[in-house]
Amino acid sequence: MSLLNVLSKSLWRQTSSPFINRAASIIYSKQLKSTFTLEREIPDFVVGTLETVVGTQNISTSLPVREQHGRDESHHVCTPPDVVVWPESTEQVSQIAKVCYDNNIPMIPFGTGTGLEGGAVGYKGGVTIDLTKMDEIVELNVDDFDVTVRPGVTRETLNNYIKDQGLWFPIDPGAHASVCGMCATSASGTNAVRYGTMRENVMNLEVVLADGSILHTAGPGKRSRKTSAGYNLTNLFVGSEGTLGIITQATVRLYGIPESMMSAVCSFETVKSAVDTVMQVMQCGIPMARIEFLDDVMIDACNRFSNLSHKVSPTLFLEFHGAQDAIKAQVELVEELAQMNGGSDFYWAEKQEDRNKLWKARHNCWYATLALRPGTKGYATDVCVPISKLPEIIVATKEDILKSSIVGTIVGHVGDGNFHCFITVDPDNPEELPVIKEVAERMARRAIAVGGTCTGEHGIGLGKRDLLVKEVGDGAMTVMKQLKNTLDPKGLMNPGKVFK
Ligand code: LAC
Ligand code: ZN
Repeated sequence: MSLLNVLSKSLWRQTSSPFINRAASIIYSKQLKSTFTLEREIPDFVVGTLETVVGTQNISTSLPVREQHGRDESHHVCTPPDVVVWPESTEQVSQIAKVCYDNNIPMIPFGTGTGLEGGAVGYKGGVTIDLTKMDEIVELNVDDFDVTVRPGVTRETLNNYIKDQGLWFPIDPGAHASVCGMCATSASGTNAVRYGTMRENVMNLEVVLADGSILHTAGPGKRSRKTSAGYNLTNLFVGSEGTLGIITQATVRLYGIPESMMSAVCSFETVKSAVDTVMQVMQCGIPMARIEFLDDVMIDACNRFSNLSHKVSPTLFLEFHGAQDAIKAQVELVEELAQMNGGSDFYWAEKQEDRNKLWKARHNCWYATLALRPGTKGYATDVCVPISKLPEIIVATKEDILKSSIVGTIVGHVGDGNFHCFITVDPDNPEELPVIKEVAERMARRAIAVGGTCTGEHGIGLGKRDLLVKEVGDGAMTVMKQLKNTLDPKGLMNPGKVFK
């Protein structure tokens, strides 16, 4: 780290003075001009007005802070915004939006920065609105199984808060993501096969629109389990990736913690036999809580990274939730199906600590993949297909990875027909990235061709904009653009994402 880096970072830590932060930022901008091109400079008076809205302690133009907000966990290049603000209330978000709207400045909502498709990455400068300071749990309704949270509340914070009431929020993308960020990206993860994705679990959203007006998508204070009242504005914003508004509050469903949970591991000789088992389990209507596929490279990476010792071959991680008798019947049926496909005996993670270790290893698959080639970056892609198409498409993807001589893992929430490819990219080898992009593109096109989607849960972001057109067609694209223009006529909300 250069002296200037140290100087500017310590200035930012020690003082909240925007003057000093800006001075540090200028030093940085000069130093790194060749790295980042700012297409838009925000006038000083706008920075000053934003500072009046959020207070001097809640605004920064220092490059380290902007850089931190110019990237997510994807391979997309870091593009810092011009300014970062930390509002502390919906009213402040609304005022920020008004200032940006009046001055034609892009706005990028930012949660925990754990996205994998560049959704929170800067694009055309502008203001990043970091929502982590709005972290209240606004209202917990134990008797109704719902909760209303602000955008700084992460799923883990929420679960710690509600567990003593016997409740949990099962949607689990692995990352320590915020609940509102999960709304914005339509996240899901390992439990979705049983409990659904964010689309099925969000009941109401408070959203600040581009011009600063505040919308309650189901009406203020509404939290009914069902509604057939009017258009589904809530789900218009779920998965909108910050391109339609800034989510400042979410009301979501909760569930009772199951009476009992059992987790097991089963290995197979071939990819096809593992995935055929999943398809048959789902076709039998067995209510799996989790059913995850890991290919041989992935299980090897997990063994190394998470200190496990499973056989290196295509593997399923399974979990059953419910009353003990009900689980027993489900287990018998799944074991029978696995054995018909040549699966091993189940290895049971019986103790709570073994179960935690298993699922922690699953959640660390992304990092385990990166650790296969130290010094490399990761390229994540995900698709989702109808379950009957899953065996053929996973087999084809595996063959493609092997043929392309790249190092990648396949892992996924296969009970939903959803799986990911995590591929390592050597930043010093310019020939690698284009090959990887082609593999990812072929995987998405294969999924689309069999009636699936180019992304089951990571979103369109920057990387899949062309694939979205291919997937939904011109008619749906036209309507999406009309909706975008209605809600964001100046094109200021997270520009460059979802649409080109
Ligand atoms: C996972 C995330 C990255 O399934 O989607 O691990
Ligand atoms: Zn996933």
